[in-house]
Amino acid sequence: MNKKLFALLSLLAIASLALAACGAPAATEAPAEEAPTASQVEVFSWWTGGGEAAGLDAMQVVFKAANPDIEFINAAVAGGAGTNARAVLATRLQAGDPPDSWQGHAGQELIGTYVAASQIEPLNDLYESEGWLEVMPETLIPLISQDGNIYSVPVNIHRANVLWYNPGLLEANGVEVPTTMDEWFAAMDTLKAAGVQPLALGEQWTKMHLLETVLLGSLGPDAYNGLWTGETDWSSPEVTAALENYAKALTYANEDSASLSWQDAAQLVVNGDAAFNVMGDWAEGYFRELGKTPNTDYGWAATPGSGGVFQFLSDSFVLAVGAPHRDAAIAWLKTAGSKEGQEAFNPVKGSICARTDCDKSLFGEYLQSAMEDWATNTVVGSLTHGVVANDSWKTEIDTALGLFIADGNIETFQSALVAACASSGPCK
Ligand code: GAL
Repeated sequence: MNKKLFALLSLLAIASLALAACGAPAATEAPAEEAPTASQVEVFSWWTGGGEAAGLDAMQVVFKAANPDIEFINAAVAGGAGTNARAVLATRLQAGDPPDSWQGHAGQELIGTYVAASQIEPLNDLYESEGWLEVMPETLIPLISQDGNIYSVPVNIHRANVLWYNPGLLEANGVEVPTTMDEWFAAMDTLKAAGVQPLALGEQWTKMHLLETVLLGSLGPDAYNGLWTGETDWSSPEVTAALENYAKALTYANEDSASLSWQDAAQLVVNGDAAFNVMGDWAEGYFRELGKTPNTDYGWAATPGSGGVFQFLSDSFVLAVGAPHRDAAIAWLKTAGSKEGQEAFNPVKGSICARTDCDKSLFGEYLQSAMEDWATNTVVGSLTHGVVANDSWKTEIDTALGLFIADGNIETFQSALVAACASSGPCK
């Protein structure tokens, strides 16, 4: 394993223990009795459209072929990055009404939230019987484990730090694909002067997504990792400079961003209505679903300043404590972890397999390049998509971000980020 990543993972594992010890919500009580049959399984996610539902459908076909007698209940709640779905899930878990299995991000979202609250079951037996320890990347196991227990089945690896661009618009305006923040700002100045919308942005979580990539691109991977382990001082001038870059990037965005979904914003680029969009590579699944052609309708690069770094996240599925259809849920998890399931799901979803043995030729040009980068780049984790911060820390950052979007005050924003790390993160 990459040494830097290993160090980060070790620190995250320690941090997760600390975070689990303080402030963990109370465990949800398991319903007293299980349903008598395993005739259905309720799977909860936020994959309802734009490339995402198609991926889930493809995996569901594999599940149905293996389990013709089990009805698949697709309990997806719309809203990118799970902003709505996770609120609904939290309410259900509080009420002792868990879906059998749900989508959770590997990392702090899983360990600091569901494991800390004893809401999901360890899956070590399944890992053993399915031989998954041999085929899942060792990188991922610490992010889904606590005290020797493995808690979820990763279905994919997504990349967060992708700069999508419209090749025709860049070419027509003599703009090269930027590799640094300054090149990016210069490119966006040129495009703006030519009357082209430089940056397409959507609702608030997409702004947090942009923020994490600008922090990475401005600070570099070591200092970015340090933000989540307590080694990088959130009050440092380097973080101030990164936030200034972020504030500047926002000035190039469309004014109606608050009312756009990630799909709306990404679509502006492939339709030629905006030059750049920063979004995870689920956008590629969407572009394909729209019938767009790689390198013609859209191009891609690492977000400015983050070349050679893969900012990752991983979707995984869990087994609820008190799952009403436990056996069927286990059957579902077997499909989610299988080669066949992952090979059906990922090429459509716009992600690469979590498994290391998928057939590369099933994937398009972008995803093949992502596989190469995943294998060779420095790997860091995503904030918005659950890897580096648990839910309470992420919520505090999100609140601070909402205020910053409204008032534009960098000093107040930075102070709130410092306070968030002290109250919910590892900064003491
Ligand atoms: C992420 C999730 C991705 C994709 C994205 C947009 O949090 O990991 O699979 O669904 O949200 O909805």
